Amino acid sequence: MARINDNFLKLKAGYLFPEIGRRVAAYTEANPDAALIRCGIGDVTEALPKAVQDAMHKAVDELGDRDTFRGYGPEQGYAFLREAVAENAFADLGISADDIFVSDGSKCDTGNILDIFGPGNTIAITDPVYPVYVDTNVMIGNTGEADEAGRYEGLVYLPCTAENDFVPAIPEEKVDIVYLCYPNNPTGASATREQLQAWVDYALKNDAIILYDAAYEAFIQDADVPRSIYEIEGAKECALEFRSFSKNGGFTGVRCGYIVIPDSVFGTTESGEKISIKQLWSRRTSTKFNGASYPVQRGAEAIFSPEGKAEVAALVEHYMANAKLLRDACTELGLEVFGGENAPYVWVACPEGLTSWDMFDKMLQEANVVITPGSGFGAAGEGYFRISAFNSRANVEEVCKRLKALL
Ligand code: MLT
Repeated sequence: MARINDNFLKLKAGYLFPEIGRRVAAYTEANPDAALIRCGIGDVTEALPKAVQDAMHKAVDELGDRDTFRGYGPEQGYAFLREAVAENAFADLGISADDIFVSDGSKCDTGNILDIFGPGNTIAITDPVYPVYVDTNVMIGNTGEADEAGRYEGLVYLPCTAENDFVPAIPEEKVDIVYLCYPNNPTGASATREQLQAWVDYALKNDAIILYDAAYEAFIQDADVPRSIYEIEGAKECALEFRSFSKNGGFTGVRCGYIVIPDSVFGTTESGEKISIKQLWSRRTSTKFNGASYPVQRGAEAIFSPEGKAEVAALVEHYMANAKLLRDACTELGLEVFGGENAPYVWVACPEGLTSWDMFDKMLQEANVVITPGSGFGAAGEGYFRISAFNSRANVEEVCKRLKALL
């Protein structure tokens, strides 16, 4: 009989969002008339920017004509998109088109990157955390079993709490790989230049690599909050950055993202030879991937056109105004509220005496609003819930009303 990868059996019950989906499905089956509002998974709700639609239509027309038809594209992404990214998202940061690797999204990228790292690395993740970082390390065999609190043996957990403004303290011990996500999912916190500089300094001192997830960069409102890890001195020697078109351009269903890998980031072989991370990722990509689709990459390129930029700015403004309404409603109710100022997630302390899942059930059953329980993101998320600001204005206003009626 074929042997399976036993590591999969270490995974805790289910991935968070399918688990929420199951509970919601059971509730709606029993209550088919409930007018449910979903503020759980951070999925965009507004239409694709017109500039993106037009570019994708045009690309499909090109594919429909023998003279302009294209087959396989470059595995690392078309030059037109890589150049647009380098020029627009990383202007003056010393990142070139050649450092950009286009993909079908950041979720896949943050998981797939582990292909090029060997066993035996000490891996640090924040707690709470986007569950993909943890589960993909479990799957690949970088952890032992989970304990009662759901923490896996072998991972270094970096608590993110209200006391440290949800930015982890620099660890005493040496780690080899650390995942950081700012603006943060799930807490909605942002990291200051000084905090990120401390992490880059730590990485350089310890020969560590920072896997920096900047999927929510577009939502930063404060001019002094860094949008990219490469704004930090030394980051080009120790950090990879993950970016996505999902949340800014509304691509959660379209699928497109990219990883930035500068030439100057290295790993080591068992015998101590320095190897370029970019070279390995490029090799891995050529073998395992045939690139994001042509119409999708043309759509992503259009995000950087003047029309596309204006439309994305309007989308961001829409979602951030939602976040403000949610923040204000929770604050008025006397709840302790975090995030929602530079990120589309509002992170709220549960009312006295309720666990995260208690609050999830209460909101589902009594207010017909789906939120995400903080404990689903890690042990340190217990006692919190996350509200996603990705919704229509009308739905967000209704959620605020229902919250007030409920509490
Ligand atoms: C979330 O709700 O945490 C995100 O939507 C998940 C994701 O982007 O994959």
